[in-house]
Amino acid sequence: MQFSERISRISVSSTAAVLHKADDLRAMGVELIDFGPGEPDFPTPEHIKQAAVRALEANFTKYTPTGGIRELKEAIVARHAEDFDSNYSAAECLVTVGGKQAVFEGMMATLNEGDEVILPVPYWASFLDIIHYAGGKPVLLPTREDEGFVVRAAAVEKLITPHTRMMVLNSPNNPTGAVIPPEEMRKLLALAVRYNLLLLSDECYCHLVYEGQPFSLGSSRDREHLLVVDSLSKTYAMTGWRVGFALGNAKLLANMVKLQSHSTSNPPSLAQKAAVEAFQAPQDCVHAMLAEYRRRRDRMVAGLRAIPGIQCTFPQGAFFAYPNVSAYLRRDGLGDTALLAERLLEEAHVVVVPGQAFGTQEHIRISYATSLAHIEEGLTRMEAFFARF
Ligand SMILES: Cc1ncc(COP(=O)(O)O)c(C=O)c1O
Repeated sequence: MQFSERISRISVSSTAAVLHKADDLRAMGVELIDFGPGEPDFPTPEHIKQAAVRALEANFTKYTPTGGIRELKEAIVARHAEDFDSNYSAAECLVTVGGKQAVFEGMMATLNEGDEVILPVPYWASFLDIIHYAGGKPVLLPTREDEGFVVRAAAVEKLITPHTRMMVLNSPNNPTGAVIPPEEMRKLLALAVRYNLLLLSDECYCHLVYEGQPFSLGSSRDREHLLVVDSLSKTYAMTGWRVGFALGNAKLLANMVKLQSHSTSNPPSLAQKAAVEAFQAPQDCVHAMLAEYRRRRDRMVAGLRAIPGIQCTFPQGAFFAYPNVSAYLRRDGLGDTALLAERLLEEAHVVVVPGQAFGTQEHIRISYATSLAHIEEGLTRMEAFFARF
């Protein structure tokens, strides 16, 4: 069997090994503390589920327009305008099968073979693979841990060449929880304008910020150099429903929807109706989940910092901590973070994701989208584990 050159450019997530092993242990009845998942542990709020039930009972179960129903596009742009003072029209909105599809289509529609894409490190792993798949050339920009992993416009500018076509920002960031301050975001957009680049701003965690107000670059009202990607997955605990969206230049979106029309077609019809409810109803559920994430973050980071040798930046958003474990890596065969994650799993029954998946060698990603009781138990286990080295 022969495979395309294109498909060989990408790989399944490097986190798969640990997660498979975790599944095996679980099947054997081992009680794991799982800090692996990149998704909310909360159920989807009841009023959103009920909207899908109503849609089902009304037989809203057919194909919809590929790029989403008009009612949903209008709900998205209205919510975005209210939250961020943007002014997108429904024609400048595309509904996608999760935020991931919007990233995929945005890159496929704009990158040519060899185009350079500036990608800050640590990065969400899919960015790297999608850039490769689209024929782009990732230009990695390490961020500084002692600056909280914040991307700086001055550092980005040094990497711009005549071949640069795109820069990718993800604030709040997966895996670090770093938030780029709004004034820095505006400087980054100004760079995109000056050098005629497309800035892909992945704002899937934009409502999950602990300091200050949620921010979207969409508030800039730029239509030529900015593609905003967002999702209901994290904001409304709707990962399985598969609804995301893109906001930007109508011509760019028209090219993205061509791809969608030949792959997935429309996002699930029932999920679109649920999404309308999510955007139009009061946003109390979002605030309630955020308050709970904040409690969990505070406990998790304090607990990690209390383990001798572990350093951890203070995440300003999303629901991940990204502690530096380099002090342990060369001790007693721990080697690299993949090995460390494996031993944490086997010996302490704690699941974490090695930082190699996100482009750094000295960290592990810990999701605190889990109960405080699990966080306490996980911290106790990790403390005992690291004390042995
Ligand atoms: C940074 C980032 N962007 C996009 C996504 C995609 O989420 P979804 O496709 O569920 O909307 C994720 C999911 O983990 C993410 O972490």
